[in-house]
Amino acid sequence: MPDNDLAKAEMKDIANLSKRRGFVFQSSEIYGGIGSVWDYGPLGVELKNNVKREWWKRMVYRRGDVEGLDSAILMNPEVWKASGHVSSFADMLVDCKDCKRRFRIDHLKEPKCPECGGALTDPRSFNLMFKTQVGTVEGQGIDVYLRPETAQGIFVNFANVVVSSRKKLPFGIAQIGKSFRNEITTGNFTFRSREFEQMELEFFVKPGEDEKWYEYWLAERMDWYLSLGIRKEKLRLREHASDELAHYAKSCHDVEYLFPMGWSELEGIANRADFDLNQHAKLAENGQVLKYFDDSIGESYFPYVIEPSGGVDRAVLAFLIDAYRKEVVRERERVYLALDPRLAPIKVAVLPLLKNRPEIVEMSGKILEGLKAKAMYRAVYDDTAAIGKLYRRQDEIGTPLCVTVDVESLTDGKVTVRDRDTMVQERVDASSLEAIVEAKIGY
Ligand code: GAP
Repeated sequence: MPDNDLAKAEMKDIANLSKRRGFVFQSSEIYGGIGSVWDYGPLGVELKNNVKREWWKRMVYRRGDVEGLDSAILMNPEVWKASGHVSSFADMLVDCKDCKRRFRIDHLKEPKCPECGGALTDPRSFNLMFKTQVGTVEGQGIDVYLRPETAQGIFVNFANVVVSSRKKLPFGIAQIGKSFRNEITTGNFTFRSREFEQMELEFFVKPGEDEKWYEYWLAERMDWYLSLGIRKEKLRLREHASDELAHYAKSCHDVEYLFPMGWSELEGIANRADFDLNQHAKLAENGQVLKYFDDSIGESYFPYVIEPSGGVDRAVLAFLIDAYRKEVVRERERVYLALDPRLAPIKVAVLPLLKNRPEIVEMSGKILEGLKAKAMYRAVYDDTAAIGKLYRRQDEIGTPLCVTVDVESLTDGKVTVRDRDTMVQERVDASSLEAIVEAKIGY
């Protein structure tokens, strides 16, 4: 295997590749964009769906103690009073009196503007939730928020899930969905976006068993990233200091990845104790249904909650950065994405060696149809360049397998399968391709 770590992936390399090959585009780009909002292109949507699918497989399908949920983005605004987001989900901000730029005070090293050195205003509290109105008459609707976390949709549905799925503690509710935050400090590509997706699990346990489950989820979540190929030396757990803890957290660790700008949060794993259920029980008309009746002891109580909360967009970014490789092969630079095959946007590319031979093109087409028949993953066909260039295109987007059809294939029914990472080529029966691809991507 060649030395494949010649390049440290810089954010600009990843942003350029993302735009050029269709992973991520700036939202509303033709209008000049909108700050820190991103669109996922043809390859990005595949990668993102694959990340979400792998999370769901691990958190729901492989377990018997987790149910799924898809709750709405808009919620009764009382939810956010109870959760503490109306009063506490805020950053302390200062404005530069000269250049008018705005900064989070906790991100400043000195008490002056980091851009122009100007004097700063007194700090003000700025709530991060986006507000909108529900109602049909202008000015007479009620103010609602775009949810800043998916978690509250889980808490308010706790009793519904317990009753409908007859769950007993310990058990969890998993949800993937959009969240919105009016972030002040942006930049670093998709890392801190104003619209993003979260993958959240609220795992409900008996009070007293929370510490044990907290430790369990720290290990389990680290293992998920590692099992999908993140390099061990680029991943760590960092415990929050007491003055860093969110208003709801008894304790919290961040899973951090060594992004180009330094160690940064990929996922937060918090012990939320019974904060949320308790709060909703106090404020909601029917909040008492959130008390759990434990028939093993004949008592009711509010369960404690361990919450692994990951960002889909941050996971996608970390997987892209971690997979980015440059190497020199026969005096030419090769860029490739060493993505785990389960995450790769395209699993297999069928490439005819000679596109001016109709029989080869026909056989390639049949092979592609066979690979697409079960519609389980993306398989593509490309004949728009010479084979070397076609391989490089697929390497750059992380396609684990390329299949070439040549003149001999017409008589012996065999094709060449090339592995993205090793570049080793193997001659196999065309009829065994489906099984080879499925084994490679773990389906
Ligand atoms: N329910 C708990 C919660 O929301 P958080 O630490 O504020 O906790 C969890 O967010 C995860 O959501 C973060 O670790 C990060 O991956 C993702 N996230 C949060 N804000 C984000 C943003 N502005 N852009 C992209 N991802 C974000």
